[in-house]
Amino acid sequence: MRTSLLPALAAVTPVLAGFDTWAPPGPYDVRGPCPMLNTLTNHGFLPHNGRNIDQETTENALYDALNLKKTLGGFLFDFAMTTNPIANATTFSLNDLGNHNVLEHDASLSRADAYHGSVLAFNHTIFEETKSYWTDEVITLKMAADARYYRIKTSQATNPEYSMSELGDAFTYGESAAYVVLFGDKESRTVPRNWVEWLFEKEQLPQHLGWKRPAVEFVDGDLERFMGEIQNYTREIENPACESRKQRRRGRVPSHFGF
Ligand code: HEM
Ligand code: MG
Repeated sequence: MRTSLLPALAAVTPVLAGFDTWAPPGPYDVRGPCPMLNTLTNHGFLPHNGRNIDQETTENALYDALNLKKTLGGFLFDFAMTTNPIANATTFSLNDLGNHNVLEHDASLSRADAYHGSVLAFNHTIFEETKSYWTDEVITLKMAADARYYRIKTSQATNPEYSMSELGDAFTYGESAAYVVLFGDKESRTVPRNWVEWLFEKEQLPQHLGWKRPAVEFVDGDLERFMGEIQNYTREIENPACESRKQRRRGRVPSHFGF
C-alpha cells in the first residue's frame, strides 16, 4: 500500500523553482538526453518529475533561468512536441526527447549512440573524449567545432548503424553553439570549461563557479549566427588547405611551406 502510493506522491511533491533550489531526480522522475533541460528540471524551473511539460512552462523556464527569448523557447518547444508519440498531445516528457532519430541523434557529446546503449544516461567515457577537445580553461567555438566533428568521426568508426539526419545534424550544431554562447558568453563567444563540465556531470547550474543568468537576452537570430560560425570552423577542419590559404593571406604561414 505504502509502496504503491510513492509514484503519486512523487508527482505532487512540490519542488520550489529557482537558482537556489536543486534536487536530483527521484526514482519516479524522468530525465532525458539534454543536459540543460535536465538541469532546469533539477532546479524546479521545469516540473521535477520531468513529465507533461507544456509550452508556457517551457518558455518561462528558459526565460527565467537563461534569459532566452520566449519566442525562441516556443520554437524549441514545437520541436520537443515532435518527440511525443501520442497524437494531439500538448505536452512532452523529458524521456520523449530520447526517441531515437526524431531529435535525438548519434555522436552525442555525453551520451552513447542508441546502437551501443542508453541515449538518455550520462556516459563518462564519451564525455572524456569530448573533454579532450576542450584544450584550455576557456572553451571557444573552435574547440566546440573540434569536439563535435571528432565525436562524429568516432561514432562513424565504431557504430555499424551510425546515422545522422539533416535535422539531427542541425541539432548537433545548435547544441554545440548553445553550451558556448547561451550558457556562456555570446559577446566573447567563450565559456569557462569548468562551468560546462559541472553542467554536464552534475546537471546543476554552476553558480558557485561564477555562473549567472546571462544579462543580455538570447534572441532568435543568435543561435543561427553561432551555428554558422561552428559550420565555418568545421569546413576548415574538413579542408585544412582552405585554412592554410587564409592564414598565408594573413601572413601567418610562410608560403614556402608549399600550401
Ligand atoms: C541535447 C532538446 C534546450 C543544450 C539535446 C537533445 C535533445 C535536446 C533532444 C539530445 C540530442 C542528442 O545528443 O542526441 C532540447 C529542447 C530544448 C533544449 C527540446 C528546449 C525546449 C537546450 C538549451 C541548451 C541545450 C537551452 C543550452 C545550453 C544541449 C546540449 C546538448 C543537448 C549541449 C548535447 C548533449 C550531448 O551531446 O550529450 N537537447 N534542448 N539544450 N542540448 Fe538541449
Ligand atoms: Mg544522442
